[in-house]
Order: sequence, then structure tokens, then C-alpha cells
Amino acid sequence: MRRLRRTEAMRSLVRETHLHPGALIYPLFLVPGEGVRKEISSMPGVFNLSVDEAVKEAEACAALGIGGLLLFGLPEKKDEQATGAWAADGIVQQGLRALKCDRKLDSLVVIADVCLCEYMSHGHCGVVARDGDHYEIENDSSVALLAKTAVSLAQAGADIVAPSDMMDGRVEAMRAALDAAKCEATPSLEHVPILSYASKFASAFYGPFREAADSAPQFGDRRSYQMDGANLREAMREIDQDIAEGADMVLMKPAMPYLDVIRAARERYDVPMGAYQVSGEYSMLHAAFARGWLEPERTMMESLLSIRRAGADFIVTYFAKDAGRVLG
Ligand code: PBG
Repeated sequence: MRRLRRTEAMRSLVRETHLHPGALIYPLFLVPGEGVRKEISSMPGVFNLSVDEAVKEAEACAALGIGGLLLFGLPEKKDEQATGAWAADGIVQQGLRALKCDRKLDSLVVIADVCLCEYMSHGHCGVVARDGDHYEIENDSSVALLAKTAVSLAQAGADIVAPSDMMDGRVEAMRAALDAAKCEATPSLEHVPILSYASKFASAFYGPFREAADSAPQFGDRRSYQMDGANLREAMREIDQDIAEGADMVLMKPAMPYLDVIRAARERYDVPMGAYQVSGEYSMLHAAFARGWLEPERTMMESLLSIRRAGADFIVTYFAKDAGRVLG
């Protein structure tokens, strides 16, 4: 075996898996204001950005050949109907309009995350019905708000909408709402694809994101809608349903602790698939880099390669710019 490992030229010739910047997607966290660039304490190098700063960040991504952006928003005000998620002048809608009128960004696919948690005062991804101490996350009323949000984001210019809420039936409702929007006085939205976060596990690895997006649930947890980390077969059923409902692509998350799920999905489905290397995966590597315990560049590239080798076509990662520089 060692004959083909002797030189880098030889290794390069027989390499089975490749990384390229066009298959990396960089998440951005948009906040109101101007000139805002606030670092997230648990995620070195990742910032809350006002729209003007986000445009600069996007230009840097485009210059590195990165494939796309995934947008999240922190609204001015939160309420129990997630108004900021679907308002025409919502923070992500403002960001989309700014990004879409900058021709230097034409090479980037701009994906809008569709969820309610950042916009809900209670921090859950759906509508909460309370009865004394007991509460439920309502499915169908949440789906109605999510469909409305997807239409609003697509109208503002999102190239792709990406539901991350894990309510049942949201993909079908979103497809119907996007297709119906053409009958109203708006440009047709029939062409807008849905990237569904089809298998999203209730994970401790989302911890740092909840600081970045200010979206921690104020009570309870997300286990009644996100998946149990023990279940691989259930993940396949989630993907089945989302494809049947009209998802054009699927996303799996987290990535590194769930590489077996990515591999199983790759063997079973032919739709394009992405994996999300989530905030906690990024933070734990950075914590080790800061202590000098791991070599940053090699560890980062190996983590991304493992996700590609498992079968993901593209990767959402906070390392997108750093990896883009290495691959440049
Ligand atoms: C919104 C959402 C979350 C993430 C992506 N979309 C948080 C959550 O579900 O709690 C996590 C991403 C990350 O950790 O980087 N529902």
C-alpha cells in the first residue's frame, strides 16, 4: 500500500475525496443597526453583523469562491407570533435585499434559514400553547407561520429557503405557499428550491449558536420537535417524508457526531445533500486550538473532509472562509 503514499504528487493522484470552496456555505447572523460587528464569545472569528457589514463579509466570501451564505436574523423585538420572521421589513429580508442588489455577489447562493425561534419571545421554534404549567408546541399553527415566512424571504430575494424548525408537514405547506404566491401581485416564486433540514437532532452541540442567534428556549427544550440522537431509522423516515413533500435538497445536522446518518442517507437517496457542521463542533475545535492542543489548519481540513467522505455534497460551516483561504 505504501508505494502510492510516497510523494504528495502520488497521493494527490489517488485521492478519493476532494474539498472545494464552492461546496462550502458560510452562516451570517444579521442584526439591526449600522457598522455593527460584534464577535460571538464562544465562536472566535464569527460575528453578529449589521446589514452593511454583512455585505462586506459576503464580498470576502465571494472573492474566496465560497458557494453560498446561510442567513439568520436577530430582530429588534420578539413576540409570540414571530412577527420579525415574516415581516416585509424583517432583518433577514433587509439583508437579502442588500445582498441581492450587489452584483459582486452573483456567484453566491443566498439561503435563508426559515425558523421562528430567533423571533419568538419564548425561544421555541413554533407557536406555544400554554395551559397552566403545561405547554405544547403547536404543529399546524407553526407550519402556517413558517410558510408565510418562507414566502416573505423568497420575495425579498432568497435563492433557497431552508426550514430548520422540524415541524411536521412544513415542506409541503411551504411548497404550496411558494407556488400559490405567483397568483398574487408578486413575482413568481415557483422556481425557489427548498433545502429542508430533514434530519436535525436535538443536540447539545447547538449551544454556541443560541448565543449567536439569541434563540435559547426560555423554558423546556426542543426534544418534542427535534430528533432523538439515538435514531438512525427515524432520520431516514424524516428524509423520506421531506422528499415526498417536495424538498429539492436535504440537510443533516450536526455533522461530525452523526457521520453514520450522512452515510446512510447518501446510500439511500439521490437528492443533493448537505451537512451542517454546527456551532459546537466549531467551538470545541477552537477551544483546542486556543490551548495549542490541536493544529488548526490540519484539524479543520480533516473535519471537513470527514463530512464529505461520509457523503455530503456541501457543508454549512463556520470554517468556510478559513477553509476557502487554504483551498484558494
Ligand atoms: C434554528 C437553528 C438552530 C441551528 C440552526 N438553525 C438552533 C437550534 O435548533 O437550537 C443550530 C446551528 C448551529 O448550532 O450552528 N432552529
